[in-house]
Parts: sequence; structure tokens; C-alpha cells
Amino acid sequence: MTYGSFPGARPRRLRTTPTMRRMVAETRLHPADLILPAFVREGVAEPVPIQAMPGVVQHSLDTLRKAAVEAVSAGVSGIMLFGVPEDEKKDAAGTAGTDPDGILQVAIRAVKEEVGDDLVIMSDLCLDEYTDHGHCGVLDDQGRVDNDATLERYAEMAQVQADAGVHVVGPSGMMDGQVGVIRDALDQTGHEDVSILAYTAKYSSAFYGPFREAVGSSLRGDRKTYQQDPANTRESMRELALDLDEGADMVMVKPAGPYLDILAKVAASVDVPVAAYQISGEYAMIEAAAEKGWIERDRAILETLTGIKRAGAHMILTYWATEVAKGL
Ligand code: PBG
Repeated sequence: MTYGSFPGARPRRLRTTPTMRRMVAETRLHPADLILPAFVREGVAEPVPIQAMPGVVQHSLDTLRKAAVEAVSAGVSGIMLFGVPEDEKKDAAGTAGTDPDGILQVAIRAVKEEVGDDLVIMSDLCLDEYTDHGHCGVLDDQGRVDNDATLERYAEMAQVQADAGVHVVGPSGMMDGQVGVIRDALDQTGHEDVSILAYTAKYSSAFYGPFREAVGSSLRGDRKTYQQDPANTRESMRELALDLDEGADMVMVKPAGPYLDILAKVAASVDVPVAAYQISGEYAMIEAAAEKGWIERDRAILETLTGIKRAGAHMILTYWATEVAKGL
């Protein structure tokens, strides 16, 4: 619509002042949207910096407790724990992952003791942190990831993590049937109240790179036979239907930034809460570019998180959770 040579409509009016822009903003980040992923390393007294993730560390048990307390005061909703066992404890079956005194279980108990129910305590339910070959499951005699043998390991992991007091388990290995097997294992061991946050659409991504350093993984090969092909959308809808059918309480899309279309589609089609995981490589890119002075760090962080929420995420896992929550 134009009158003469002037615009008849002026959308810029709603952008004139900061308060005007704030008033008409359609998407607002809130500390309660945020979940902090945290790494805890066995046998260290001091936290160990992760080179490819400046500002993120492998916590000692002591600094993990402090990070949990800090997250609570900032208003963050949850913490997703990843265990980093001592190297000599890694083996083909990922035994440390089902040891009641394994590092993740110890970490769950420590955080629970420190903050109780003030944070939703979540745990990565996957074998890659504990296997010497770095895969998310156990291997068959030909070196392939054995789906059904892995499910048995996941069932045991679910039980020990729940015994340690976790509120939510996060199966991230992309084995077929994992949500159903874990639900059964939890129910049969008296853990009906432990929720499952299913990594529903988990893509085989180059952006997991820095995570490998974070958990000290020496993966041989790749995860393409179990994680999804970045080219696919329909496959995610199928994974979603299966996870819901098997009993997922919440579903997740991962990575976040390069998969906002998938996130929007998932969020539009389910009635359970939807999480998105802004992963290690998404974190590293912004930190690296900011360090070089190429982008404005804080604006870039908020822009990515706003985009993820706008696309439909109810919860966002981000390594910046505490920092961002404090600033909001
Ligand atoms: C698997 C797992 C991974 C991440 C979370 N859970 C690694 C992978 O699938 O290769 C990646 C998280 C990140 O990159 O920040 N245990």
C-alpha cells in the first residue's frame, strides 16, 4: 500500500525506542528456560580447562557443587551431567558407566546433596564417555555397534543413575528402542518418577568436535550408523513418533542452530516439552570469533538463544546457561 511515492505502512514505528521494542518483543528468554550441561572428571582436585571450549571446564567434584549452587542462584532450571572417568577405567563394555561408584553416579549424588530439588538433575545416558573405543554402544565381533546388546547396558545405566538420585535421564546414544527399554528398567526398579528426556532428533554433526575433548573421547570412526543424516527431516518425525510411543516425557533436538527447522517442526507437532541442545561446536564458534574481535560475543549469544526459543524450544541446554541467566 503506497500513497504517492511514500509508504502507507510504517512498521519502523514499533522499532523506535528500546522500551517500544521490548514491549512488542514476541520471544523472551527466561532463566527457567535454561539447562546447564556440565562435565565432571574423576580423580582431579582442580578443574581442567577444555581448550576448544574457552570458559568451560572438566569440573572436580568440588567445583561441580559450586557450579550447581551458582546455577540455582541464577535461576537456571536444570543441570545435565556428563562423567569423565579415569582413562584406565575405560573398557570395551563401558563398565564405569554402570558402576554405582562410577564418576557420573558420584557426581549425581554430590549435586543432589548440594542442591536437592532446587535444580532438575539430569544425566547423560550413553556409553561413549566410558568405552575405550569411544562409541555410544558396545561392539559386535565385526566392530559394529550392536544395538540390542547396547540396550541391555543402557537399562543398567538407567538403574544406577536413578539409584544415585537423578530426576531425569537423557539417553543420547540413538539406539533403536532405547526409550522403551529404559522406561521398563526404571519402572521395574521402583523409579517410576524418573523422567526421560529423549534425544529424539540427534544428527551426526561436525559441531560435536569440542565435546570429544571435553569427555576425553578417542572415537575411532564416526557415529553415522546411529546418528541421523543432516540431510533428513522425515526421519526425525519417525524418531519422534517412536520416542513418544516408547514413553518419552520430553524430547530434544540436537544440535540446535543448524536444525531450527527440525526444532520448529517437532515443537509444532507434539504436546510434550521440547528441548534443544546448543552444542559444544556452536559454543566454540562464537567464543572463537569473539576472541578474534570478529563478532560481539554477548549479542551473538543472546541472538542464538532467542532464535532457538523462537523456533519452539521450551528448554535450552547451553554452556552459557548460568552466565546468561544472571544477565537476564
Ligand atoms: C553422547 C553425547 C554427545 C554430546 C552429548 N551427548 C556426543 C556425541 O554424540 O558425539 C555432544 C554435546 C556437545 O557437543 O556439546 N554421549
